[in-house]
Amino acid sequence: MQHVPVMLPEVLRYLAPSADEVLLDGTFGGGGYSAAILDAAACTVWAIDRDPDAIARGAALAARHPDRLHLVQGRFGDMLDLLSARGVAALDGVVLDLGVSSFQIDDPARGFSFRSDGPLDMRMAHGPGDRGPTAADLVNGLPEGELADTLYQFGEERLSRRIARAVVQARAEAPITTTLQLAAVIRGVVPPDRSGIDPATRSFQALRIRVNDELGEIERALAQAAQLLAPGGRLVVVSFHSLEDRLVKRFMQDAAGRTPGPSRHDPGGLVDRTAPDFALLTSKAQRPASAEAHANPRARSARLRALARLQTSQPQTSHQGTYPA
Ligand SMILES: C[S@@+](CC[C@H](N)C(=O)[O-])C[C@H]1O[C@@H](n2cnc3c(N)ncnc32)[C@H](O)[C@@H]1O
Repeated sequence: MQHVPVMLPEVLRYLAPSADEVLLDGTFGGGGYSAAILDAAACTVWAIDRDPDAIARGAALAARHPDRLHLVQGRFGDMLDLLSARGVAALDGVVLDLGVSSFQIDDPARGFSFRSDGPLDMRMAHGPGDRGPTAADLVNGLPEGELADTLYQFGEERLSRRIARAVVQARAEAPITTTLQLAAVIRGVVPPDRSGIDPATRSFQALRIRVNDELGEIERALAQAAQLLAPGGRLVVVSFHSLEDRLVKRFMQDAAGRTPGPSRHDPGGLVDRTAPDFALLTSKAQRPASAEAHANPRARSARLRALARLQTSQPQTSHQGTYPA
């Protein structure tokens, strides 16, 4: 079991770590990005993952880089609090590699996969520390309409109503507790299409996003990363589906003053859009090189976007005085 880092050369190019800088890898996972950043420059890396298994696996890498890699278990949507509790108030770079890792997908016990049987869990932060609802709680507990809305909203599943009806019929006989049970119910009502994608793909994505509040996490993380970036600091985000990429694109365009008129982040139009604090480093989403997409199926849907805080911008008031000289 291994996680092959996606778009690593591009991540390093836009993150551009250099000596003495302080960077955040908000999605440590298998540590592929962190290891490469630590090798690229004599910098310090803070690494967050909400999955305690990922943090435990990172101990060996941290031991190889004493005082340069600091692992923190928690959510990237809480990065401001997690870092300030450890005395870090400004960053020269932040990278986020969204979604789940191969470690999580490949372990049937985590309940992410419709290819092998496991408990219908899908919580990234599983274990005693996470008391949030599992996918089984949602599948067996949500009213039919809300289940359909979830599949439509977070999976862009056109047949959401049909699936929700089948789930409600199935669970009336016995609770749906395993991944293969749910996949069988979905496959029973969604015909395979010509793309060859498993009919359960979109529904599993939807449940995973809702169980982990993934879109809420991304919104909180982007806003906090922008707050933490020192002048000249870079934010690099790799996303894997359109719901994620839409949030990232919109946020970066807003931050760089590229959206016309008042935005969702600034409904009153109070920000001076003629003098933005950030500049886009990628004018459009970057895609993996064809060799990578060919070699690593996970990379095929990847899109990378990056922006930088302008050197001339003023640090956030709450952190003034704490930026590196
Ligand atoms: C795609 S993997 C990252 C792989 C990593 N870049 C590497 O090279 O090994 C995504 C990781 O982000 C973590 N993750 C997802 N959402 C998170 C969140 N809101 N807060 C912290 N970690 C999160 C997952 O647990 C998973 O380990």
